[in-house]
Amino acid sequence: MTVPERQTANLEYLDLDPARPSPRERVLAGLKRPRKEISPEFFYDRRGSELFRRITELPEYYPTRTERSIFALHGSEMARWAGRDSVLIEPGAGDCTKVEALLDHLGPRAYVPLDVSGDFLLARARELAGDFPALPVTAVCADFDQIESLAQYLPPGRRLFFYPGSTLGNLTPDEALIFLRKLRGIMGADGGLLLGLDRHKDPAILEAAYNDPGGVTAAFNLNALRHLNRILPADFDPEAFRHRAFYNRERYRIEMHLESLRDQTVDCAGTTVHFARGETLHTENSCKYTPEGTRALLEKAGLQLRKSWYDERELFGVHYCTP
Ligand code: AVJ
Repeated sequence: MTVPERQTANLEYLDLDPARPSPRERVLAGLKRPRKEISPEFFYDRRGSELFRRITELPEYYPTRTERSIFALHGSEMARWAGRDSVLIEPGAGDCTKVEALLDHLGPRAYVPLDVSGDFLLARARELAGDFPALPVTAVCADFDQIESLAQYLPPGRRLFFYPGSTLGNLTPDEALIFLRKLRGIMGADGGLLLGLDRHKDPAILEAAYNDPGGVTAAFNLNALRHLNRILPADFDPEAFRHRAFYNRERYRIEMHLESLRDQTVDCAGTTVHFARGETLHTENSCKYTPEGTRALLEKAGLQLRKSWYDERELFGVHYCTP
C-alpha cells in the first residue's frame, strides 16, 4: 500500500472481505444478458475515482456542490433533527469528504465509513482520524450486500446512517427498497437516516449534467472498459465505443451506456462476447426522485420522512427519516 503508515490511535480498520461471487463472475453474467450491463461500481478504480472527482467540479454537474450548499446552510438544523452523540455510519463513503461539513454539527461519538475500495478508504479515513483526533473512526471494507453483517461490529450507541450524494440513485427503486429495509433493520427503533437524493427535474438540466462538453463524463464511462480489461482480463478497445447518457422519462433515471461503434467481438476472460454495431453496454442508472416519490419509497421501507431540505432552485434534496 502506498499510504504512509502513521500511528493514528483513533482509527480501526475492518475488512469484511466481500464474500459475494467474484467480480469476474458478476461481470460475465451481465455481459451474457440479452441487454448487456455491468454494475456502476466498475467505474471506480483509481483513475475512475479521480475522474469522478473531476466530474463533481464541472459547472454542469450540480449535485455535489448543491448538496454541499444544503449542508452548509442547514447543517445545524439537521443536527437538531438527527441528534448528537450517535454512531454515524456512512455506506459508500469513498473519500470521506461529504461528512466533514456535518461533523461539527452532528458531534458523533464514532464515525464508521464503509466502502468496497479498502485501500482508498483506509487512506482517507486515516487523514480524517488525524484531523479529528477525538473522534473514533472505524473504516470498514465491505460492499452494500454485506451491510447486514455490519451490525455486530458497530460500537455501542444510537445508529445514524449518513447516505449522501444520491448514491442510492444507482439502485432502481426496487433495489433501493431492499437496501433501505436493511438499513432500517440495523438502525434499531431509535436510529435515523440522513439521505441525499437528486431530484427529478427538467431533462435538459439532467442531460447536460451527464454530457459535459469537455468529455470528462465520457472518459469516466469509458474508463469502465479499461478497468474490465485489467481485472477480467479482457481486450475491450475503448476507441470502439462511445459514451451515451440520456434521461429515461418513464423511469425517472439517467441511463449511461457505452455504444459499440462497429460490429465487434471482445475476449472477456476467455469468453467471446459479441457486440453488434449500435448495441450498448448499460453501465449506470442514476435514479431521480420527486418529493412524493421519496416519501413513498421511504414509507415502503418502514421509514417515516420527518424533514426535507432543498436548495433554492430545488435541484437536490436532503431528507431525515426514522423508523
Ligand atoms: C456517484 C452515483 C451519485 O449518479 O450522478 C456522475 C455518478 N455518473 N456522472 C451520479 C455519476 C456520471 C453519480 N453518483
